[in-house]
Amino acid sequence: MELEPSVARHYARPDLLAAILAALREAGHDPEHPRPEDLAPLDEFHVRGREPTAELGRALGLAPGQQVLDIGSGIGGPSRHLAVAHGCRITGIDLTEEYCRVATALAERLGLADRVAYQQGSALVMPFPDAGFDAAYTQHVAMNIADKPRLYAEIHRVLKPGARFGLYDLLQGPGGEVLFPVPWARDPATSFLVTPEALRGALQEAGFEILSWRESGAEARAWLAAQRERQRREGPKPSPIAILFGPDHPAILRNLARSLEEARVVPTEVICRRR
Ligand SMILES: C[S@@+](CC[C@H](N)C(=O)[O-])C[C@H]1O[C@@H](n2cnc3c(N)ncnc32)[C@H](O)[C@@H]1O
Repeated sequence: MELEPSVARHYARPDLLAAILAALREAGHDPEHPRPEDLAPLDEFHVRGREPTAELGRALGLAPGQQVLDIGSGIGGPSRHLAVAHGCRITGIDLTEEYCRVATALAERLGLADRVAYQQGSALVMPFPDAGFDAAYTQHVAMNIADKPRLYAEIHRVLKPGARFGLYDLLQGPGGEVLFPVPWARDPATSFLVTPEALRGALQEAGFEILSWRESGAEARAWLAAQRERQRREGPKPSPIAILFGPDHPAILRNLARSLEEARVVPTEVICRRR
C-alpha cells in the first residue's frame, strides 16, 4: 500500500465546496459572503474546534509581518483565523488536492486571498527553501504520518533558527489501542499514533528545544459533552466529520468520543524552538 495516496483518498470528497456552502445556507448564513465565524463550526478539523487554534497562535507568539507555515492545512479554517487574529501571512500545505482547492476558494470568498495561500504537497518533502518561515504549526496531521523523524526534520529545515514550531495532535494514551474507524483513518494501515516519550525524542532528535507540553484530555471530554448536549437541545448540526464522512460519521464520532473518554488518545499541544 502506498501510504500518502491512501491518506488523501480517505479525506477527499469531490463536491466538498458545494457541501460546505449548503451547510452554511442551512445554518442561515449567506454562502456567497460568509463571515469567518459562520465557517468556524465547519472548517476546523480537529478536537475542540477553534479554541486550540487560538491557543496555538498565542503560544507561538504569531505577529504581524511573519511568514507562517501550516503543515496539513486542511480546508484552511485555522490559517484563515490566525492570519486575521495575528496579522501574519500563512502558507498551507496539504496532501489532499481537493482541500487546497476548497481552502483557496473559501479564502477568496472571505477576502483573505492576500493573507493565506495553499498548495498541494507532502509534509515529508515540502517545496519550500531552507530557513524561510518565522513560525510553523501542525494540527491533527502527524497521526497519518509513519515517518516522524523525517516529518520533524523537514519542518526544522524550513524554519529560521530560533523560530517556534507548535503541534496539536492526538497522542497514544495509556488506555489501549484506538477504536477504528476514527476521523483520520478507517483502519490501522493509515494511523500512526506516537507515545509522548517517542514524540519528545523525535522532536529533540530533529533539533527542537521543547518549551511547553500541555495535555487537554479533560477539555476535550468537556467539549464532547457540550456538543452532545447542544445536539440534544437543538438537533443535529453540520460538522466537518458529518460533511466529510456522511452516513459513516456517527460511528466515527462514537469511536473518537470513546477513545478520548478512555484515554486511548490524549490531545496534546507542544511548543518548541528550532535550534
Ligand atoms: C484531520 S485533518 C486536519 C486539517 C487541519 N490541520 C485542521 O486541523 O483543520 C488532517 C489533514 O492532514 C493532511 N495530511 C495527512 N498526511 C499528510 C502529509 N503526509 N502531508 C501533508 N498533509 C497531510 C490531510 O490531507 C488532512 O487535510
